[in-house]
Amino acid sequence: MAWLGGFGRLCAVFLAICCFSFQGASSQLVVSPVGHTLVYALAGSDVTLLVSFTGADDPTVTWLMGGLPVVTWTIGSDVPPDIAEDRKKVLNIDPNGSLTFVNVTLGYTSNYTFEMTKSGLAKSVTSFTLEVFESIQNVILTQPDLVIEGSKQFTLQYSMLQGVVQQQMWFFNDIEINSNSQYTVAERSLVIHGPNRRDTGRYTVFLMNPFSNVTTRINVTVLYGPEKPILEALPAQPFYLSGDTLSVSCKAEGFPLPTAKWDFGSQIPDQLNGVLNLTNVQTNQAGTYMCTLVNEQSKEKLQMNIILKVYERPSGNPMCSVQSVNNVNLQYYCMWPGGTPQAVLSFPTLSNTSSGAETFSLTFNASDNLNGKTVTCMADHPVEQNQCSVTASSPMKFLPSVRTRVSSDGKIVVTIECVSEASPEAVVSWSQGSETVAAGTTYQISSNATQLQIRDYNVSNFILQNYTCTCSNPLGSQRREVHLQGPSISDFSLFRNLNGTIVTLTWEVPPTSVVTGFDIQMKGPYLPNKSRNGTQKRGSADVFHTIQQKPGSVRSVDIFFLDPSLTYRFRVIPKALMVEGEPSEVQRIGPGEGLSGAAIAGIAAGIPCSLFFIVLLGIAIYFCFHSNKNKSRQRRYPVSRAVEKAITTQTETTPHHLLTGGLKSPPDYNRLNLTPSERSMALPSFVPPAPVRVATTV
Ligand SMILES: *[C@@H]1O[C@H](CO)[C@@H](O)[C@H](O)[C@H]1NC(C)=O
Ligand SMILES: *[C@@H]1O[C@H](CO)[C@@H](O)[C@H](O)[C@H]1NC(C)=O
Ligand SMILES: *[C@@H]1O[C@H](CO)[C@@H](O)[C@H](O)[C@H]1NC(C)=O
Ligand SMILES: *[C@@H]1O[C@H](CO)[C@@H](O)[C@H](O)[C@H]1NC(C)=O
Ligand SMILES: *[C@@H]1O[C@H](CO)[C@@H](O)[C@H](O)[C@H]1NC(C)=O
Ligand SMILES: *[C@@H]1O[C@H](CO)[C@@H](O)[C@H](O)[C@H]1NC(C)=O
Ligand SMILES: *[C@@H]1O[C@H](CO)[C@@H](O)[C@H](O)[C@H]1NC(C)=O
Ligand SMILES: *[C@@H]1O[C@H](CO)[C@@H](O)[C@H](O)[C@H]1NC(C)=O
Ligand SMILES: *[C@@H]1O[C@H](CO)[C@@H](O)[C@H](O)[C@H]1NC(C)=O
Ligand SMILES: *[C@@H]1O[C@H](CO)[C@@H](O)[C@H](O)[C@H]1NC(C)=O
Ligand SMILES: *[C@@H]1O[C@H](CO)[C@@H](O)[C@H](O)[C@H]1NC(C)=O
Ligand SMILES: *[C@@H]1O[C@H](CO)[C@@H](O)[C@H](O)[C@H]1NC(C)=O
Repeated sequence: MAWLGGFGRLCAVFLAICCFSFQGASSQLVVSPVGHTLVYALAGSDVTLLVSFTGADDPTVTWLMGGLPVVTWTIGSDVPPDIAEDRKKVLNIDPNGSLTFVNVTLGYTSNYTFEMTKSGLAKSVTSFTLEVFESIQNVILTQPDLVIEGSKQFTLQYSMLQGVVQQQMWFFNDIEINSNSQYTVAERSLVIHGPNRRDTGRYTVFLMNPFSNVTTRINVTVLYGPEKPILEALPAQPFYLSGDTLSVSCKAEGFPLPTAKWDFGSQIPDQLNGVLNLTNVQTNQAGTYMCTLVNEQSKEKLQMNIILKVYERPSGNPMCSVQSVNNVNLQYYCMWPGGTPQAVLSFPTLSNTSSGAETFSLTFNASDNLNGKTVTCMADHPVEQNQCSVTASSPMKFLPSVRTRVSSDGKIVVTIECVSEASPEAVVSWSQGSETVAAGTTYQISSNATQLQIRDYNVSNFILQNYTCTCSNPLGSQRREVHLQGPSISDFSLFRNLNGTIVTLTWEVPPTSVVTGFDIQMKGPYLPNKSRNGTQKRGSADVFHTIQQKPGSVRSVDIFFLDPSLTYRFRVIPKALMVEGEPSEVQRIGPGEGLSGAAIAGIAAGIPCSLFFIVLLGIAIYFCFHSNKNKSRQRRYPVSRAVEKAITTQTETTPHHLLTGGLKSPPDYNRLNLTPSERSMALPSFVPPAPVRVATTV
C-alpha cells in the first residue's frame, strides 16, 4: 500500500479545483508532486506517484523511468495511454496524471520523472524516487573455517533468503563497528584486518529497511599459539645421576590449548599432557629430547629441545702408578675407568697443561727431584672429585735372604732372594763374580727375577762363589753381594726345665750359610729307652753320638728323660747333605762334678775369701746390732747360691757367649732358677763379684 495515503489525495483534489478556477487566467504549466517525492514501497503492494498540474487543459504527459519514457498520454484523450508493452501489467496512469504501480516488483526501484507539455507552453517537470523493498528474512552470518591470529584478514559475510537491505550495521561485543584501519564494512560483509586474539568475541549484524529489520550474531574465535613454550625437567638439576627419577614437561600457550609430544629418537609412548616421567634413568637416556607442540585446529607447530645429562660415577677410586720405561724414564699413570662422562685426569704438579680422560699418563726422564716426590693425580668428574697419589722412589737398601732345601731328586737347592722396595718395581739382575748368571740346570731365575735358585749335589761347588744381585729402577740401583757359606752354627744355647728332666737346645744359622739338616749329638749317660722318636739313639758315654737328626728348618730341639743328677754334653753338627760343617760349641748340663780343674781351683780359692768376708760382715753386723737394738734379725747371705750359679751357667769353651749372642730369650723357668748372675748385683756392695771372676779366669 502506498503510504502517502488519503492526505495526499486530498491535496491533489484541492490543487485540481484551483487549477480549473484559474484556468483562463494562467498561461504557464505548473506540475508538482503530491506528498513525498521519495516513495518506499513493499514489493507486491500497489503504490501511486501522485502529481497535480495547472496551466492547461489536457496536456500531454510522459512518465520517464530512469530517463526512459515508459508511459505517454494526453490527459482526457480517448486514445489509451501509450505504455511500454512489458510494463502494462504494473503501470497504470490515472486520469489526473498520477502513476499507479500494481503488484510492484523490485525492478521498479528507480527515479521517475513526470513531464507535461502543451503546445505553446514551456515544459514542466517533476521527479520522484521509488524504492521497492522486500522484507528481510532468514539472514545467515558466516565466518571462515579458521580464523588464525596473524593472518592477513578474515571476512564475515551474511546471506539471506530474501530482502533488500537499506542499511547494515555491525557490532563487536555490542559496540558499533565503523570502517577504519582495522575494519572494512563492505557490501554484505565485514572484513577484519590483521586479526588477533582480542578479536575473539561476538559479532552482530543489524540489517534494516523501511519495512523490516533483522539482528544476527555469530561468535568468532581467533586461534593462536602454540607460543611461549615452557620445557622443564623437574627436579631442575644441571645433571642427573643414573637411577634418578625425574619428569620432563612441555607446555605452551594457545587456543585451543596446544598438545605436546616428546621425541627421543622416536616418539615416546605413555605421556600425558606433555609430561614424561623418567624413573630409574640411565645414561643411555641422556641426550636431546624434542617436544612438538601442536595447535590441533590451526595445525600450527612448535618444536623445542631440552638436553638431559645423566651422569654416572666411575667405579672404584682413581688409581695411580708409576712405571719404568726402558729402565730410563718414569711413566706416571692415573686411571679411573668407567663413568659417564669420563673423568678428567691430570697431574697438576707435573704438568698444568695436559690432561686425559679415563686413563692418563705422563713420561719424564728420571731425575733426582722426582725421587721420593709424591705426585697427586686430580680426577675430576662432575659427580665426584677424587685423587690418588704415587711416589716414585729409588730402590731401598735390602738384605738378601738365603733359603736352603733339598729337592726331590736329592739336590741342594739354595734360593737367594733379593727384594728391594722401589717404585717403579726394581728390576733384579744377577751376576756371579763379574759375569751374568746364565740360567740353566744349575741356575734358575724366577720369572720376576727376584729369586736365584742354585741346584747342585755338591755344596762345595757354590759355597765359594760370590753372587751379586742388583735391583734397579730409573731412579737408581742397589747392589748386594752374597757370599755363601758352608754349613755352620751360631749362638748355640741350652735351657733345662725346672727339675732338670728336659733340656731345650736352640741354635741359629748364619744368614748365608747353606744347611740342609742337623745332627744333634750328646755325650753322657745313656738315655732311657722310653724315647718318643726313633731317631734317638743310644751311644757310648764318653764320645759324642748322634741322638736326633733334624731338617734344615729346625732351630731347636727338646731332649727328654734326663736324669738331673747326671751330667750331659750336647752339640749340633750342621750338614749340607753329606757334607758336615764345623760342630757347634758344646753345652753341658748336670751337677758340678763335671767342672774343669780350673773352675774347681777358682771355687777353692773363692770359698776362703768368702768366709773371710763373712767373718768381717758378722763383726760389722754385731756392731750394728748393738748400736740399734730394734734391728735384731739376722740376714742370710746367698753366698753359696752365687757359687752354684757360677758353676751351672758355665760352658766349657766361652762362658760369656751365651749371654751376648742368643737371640732367643731364655724360657721363664730358667730365669727363675738358673740365671741369677744379674741378681747377684743386688747383693750388698761389700760382697764383691771378684772371687767368682777370679774363679773363671784362673
Ligand atoms: C487522481 O486519481 C486517483 C485515482 O485514479 C485518485 O486516487 C486521486 O485522488 C486523484 N488525484 C487528484 C488530485 O484528483
Ligand atoms: C504479483 O506479481 C507476482 C509476480 O510478479 C505474482 O506472482 C503475483 O501473483 C501477483 N499478485 C497479484 C495479486 O497479481
Ligand atoms: C536517482 O537520482 C539520483 C540523483 O539524481 C541518483 O543518485 C540515484 O542513483 C537515482 N536512482 C536510481 C534508482 O536511478
Ligand atoms: C525493528 O522492528 C521492530 C518490529 O519488528 C520494531 O519494533 C523496531 O523498532 C525496529 N527497529 C528499528 C531500529 O527500526
Ligand atoms: C556466543 O557466545 C555467548 C557467550 O559468549 C553465548 O551465550 C552464545 O550462545 C554464543 N552464541 C553462539 C551462536 O554460539
Ligand atoms: C607422572 O608422574 C606424575 C606424578 O609424579 C603422575 O601424576 C603422572 O600421572 C605420571 N604420568 C605418567 C604418564 O605416568
Ligand atoms: C703452569 O706451570 C708453569 C710452570 O710449571 C707456570 O709458569 C705457569 O704459570 C702455570 N700455568 C698455570 C695456568 O698455572
Ligand atoms: C730426556 O732425555 C732425553 C735425552 O737424554 C732428551 O732428549 C729429552 O729432551 C729429555 N726430556 C726431558 C723432558 O727432559
Ligand atoms: C717372585 O716370584 C716368586 C715365585 O715365582 C714368588 O714367590 C715371589 O713372591 C715373587 N716376588 C714378587 C716380589 O713378586
Ligand atoms: C768373593 O768376595 C770376597 C770379598 O768380597 C773375596 O775375598 C773372594 O775372593 C770372592 N770370591 C770369589 C770366588 O770371587
Ligand atoms: C719334672 O717336671 C715336669 C714338668 O715340668 C714333670 O712333667 C715331670 O714329671 C717332673 N719330673 C720329675 C722327676 O719330677
Ligand atoms: C716322633 O715319633 C712319633 C711316633 O713315635 C711320630 O708321630 C712323630 O712324627 C715323630 N716326630 C719326629 C719329629 O720325628
